[in-house]
Amino acid sequence: MRKKYVAGNWKMNLTLAEARALIEGIRAKMPQNPPVDIGVFPPFPLLFPMAKALEGSPIIFGAQNCYFEPKGAFTGEVSPQQIKDTGARAVIIGHSERRHIFKEDNALLKKKVVAALAAGLDVIYCVGELLEERDAGRMEAVLDAQLTEVLGGEISLDRIVIAYEPVWAIGTGRTATPQQAQEAHAFIRQRIAKLYNSQSAETLRIQYGGSVKADNARELMSQPDVDGVLVGGASLKADDFVGIINGAIAAK
Ligand code: PGA
Repeated sequence: MRKKYVAGNWKMNLTLAEARALIEGIRAKMPQNPPVDIGVFPPFPLLFPMAKALEGSPIIFGAQNCYFEPKGAFTGEVSPQQIKDTGARAVIIGHSERRHIFKEDNALLKKKVVAALAAGLDVIYCVGELLEERDAGRMEAVLDAQLTEVLGGEISLDRIVIAYEPVWAIGTGRTATPQQAQEAHAFIRQRIAKLYNSQSAETLRIQYGGSVKADNARELMSQPDVDGVLVGGASLKADDFVGIINGAIAAK
């Protein structure tokens, strides 16, 4: 049985005071010992203060991006080890906003995944197609390239979670239907089985992301291949995020 994993991607939101209030609210409202994994992914400057705010909580935290070099003249970048030093457990790599706004390609993302794992961070690796790619019948080809050009070979899947985030569903209020999510997740799992083996594919957790809300979370996570969610907008309000955690717990 794959344990469900609810992750909140705060993106470039929240002041320190707002972040502290959000964590306080989530901790007060969520169940005591949730049978699911929970993570929050604050902007870099909030990592250290969130380590403190989360002390004694089962919620883990991580960063939204990293660079692949360990140190040096890379103004504005942050290394995996610097992230790890904050107490962070994980990092998101390949989010569609990194791919499309910051033009990060599969070759760069592969280096980032390798570097993050080497520093001891868990990785949420994001994949997903644009609307025009889906409409042109290219969804599987796009996902295939995002998987095979980044994963495989020496890269162990043990500390990787994949997030399927169709770009047309991110921040648009237009969620993929549970059937669309299931179809893409099943494709990803099948592709991973070919790239690794069927046992690795079976244990791999695949999150869905894109306009997840408290009222659709349970149904999405009841699909056989949907093992959790990566949540943007709805992770910024304690009631909404706790509603999604409860949806994960209630999912069949
Ligand atoms: P959204 O973002 O939940 O606001 O659609 C999801 C994401 O980008 O991870």
